[in-house]
Amino acid sequence: MAVQRKISKPLLLSVVILPILIIIGMTVLFLQNHRYNTRERVHSFMDGRREGTAFVFDDITVDIVTRGGDSGAWMNDPVLDDDENVLYKESVGTIYELVVTNNSSDTITDWKAVVYIPEEMCIVNSWNGDYEIHQNVNSGNESVQALDLAEYTKYDIILEHFMTVSGAMVRLYEGDYFIYYPDVAMGEMPIVPKPKDADKESSIRIGFIMYIPEKTIDYVADFSKGEIHYRLHTSILKNPFFWILCAAMIVWISCCLAMIIVKINLRRMIEQQKRDEKIIEQTMQTIVNFIEAKDPYTKGHSMRVAQYSKLLAESMGFSEAECKSFYYIALMHDCGKLYIPDNILTKPGKLTDEEYEIMKKHTLFGKELLQNFTIIEDIGMGALCHHERYDGNGYPNGIAGEDIPVIARLICISDAFDAMNSCRCYRKNLTPDIILDELKKNKGKQFDPNMIDHLMKLIESGVISMSDNVEGE
Ligand SMILES: [Fe+2]
Repeated sequence: MAVQRKISKPLLLSVVILPILIIIGMTVLFLQNHRYNTRERVHSFMDGRREGTAFVFDDITVDIVTRGGDSGAWMNDPVLDDDENVLYKESVGTIYELVVTNNSSDTITDWKAVVYIPEEMCIVNSWNGDYEIHQNVNSGNESVQALDLAEYTKYDIILEHFMTVSGAMVRLYEGDYFIYYPDVAMGEMPIVPKPKDADKESSIRIGFIMYIPEKTIDYVADFSKGEIHYRLHTSILKNPFFWILCAAMIVWISCCLAMIIVKINLRRMIEQQKRDEKIIEQTMQTIVNFIEAKDPYTKGHSMRVAQYSKLLAESMGFSEAECKSFYYIALMHDCGKLYIPDNILTKPGKLTDEEYEIMKKHTLFGKELLQNFTIIEDIGMGALCHHERYDGNGYPNGIAGEDIPVIARLICISDAFDAMNSCRCYRKNLTPDIILDELKKNKGKQFDPNMIDHLMKLIESGVISMSDNVEGE
């Protein structure tokens, strides 16, 4: 019947702790992801695994190859410098391709390639990005210029160069190098991972033409010295922990919503329960008023018996809900007196045997009266059994000891104590010594001995007073 009024502590704790853990987890994930995406990775070509002419790494493959077919290489007539002097009697012009392949499942961003020149040669043309050329590195007089070799004018070039019919030739020596920066507009960057169902690798091909002096047409320069620089970019959405944390977040939000709904319902239920309790209390108070209207000498008796029973039950360690229930049952213990004729109920002298037999029936009448009052469990047992004695000599059924319901034993003591402690129509209240004496004398006879011990403790500690409740003195 009682409503659980509070949401459990572990649940409340998890509602507070869970989002903190989720925020910490998300922060760690985002930081890790950011560090992964911004870390520059650098590989020297020579550190890669050789597969044919290619240098293979876990994430990336770099290859510098000559373009195949008739157009890939050609023999060149004498190359003249700007003053018409013969620079090279003969040279081979070759198109080389720098092939960068993405082997990872992430996107390659911010890549650049450093290519070292193995021997004297001239770079004539290239596509599509920028070449940062480092010339005369070993001479101690290094010149650096970034050039778009596909689009330039003679006057753009500050590097050592000469013009031929093939265009500007920038002369390079062993130890010189160029850094290739890919052209974003031409799709050279980023390099996306290979789609799962694609046949071909995901590669970018960069072209550049080299003129190498005094070589035959099948000559291939050795570009094995170089470095590839790049970053990998992965999405946090690919991390399973991100989705675990998202799921935890959804669970948390659901829990919060559920808690809010439960809290609202709980409040409604508590209000409803309070209203119900008020109805019960007022109904009972009305019945008690009826009883007391019939027998003014017992005014306040039912309420006091209910209070004593509750105090005794609390002292014996019964739960709050049980104590409350005992209070209500005790309040109704004498409701059967409504059926007892007034002349018997209020008779100042001793009752005759016949009258006493009628009086005893208030227990049965009480049980009957309360039979439809099911909201409080066993409410009729208090009315029926409160005149049973612990030794079995009570009425109406003569049951004994533990067979008598707990509440009936509690009422029995409380009823007797209050009867002795207050004025009745046929006598005044008894003195404290006589009351204590009576209680002790009847311990184990009329009363449950354990309950008497608890009553004594309550009297000794002042929780139950023997003078406060006396009326009509
Ligand atoms: Fe009674």
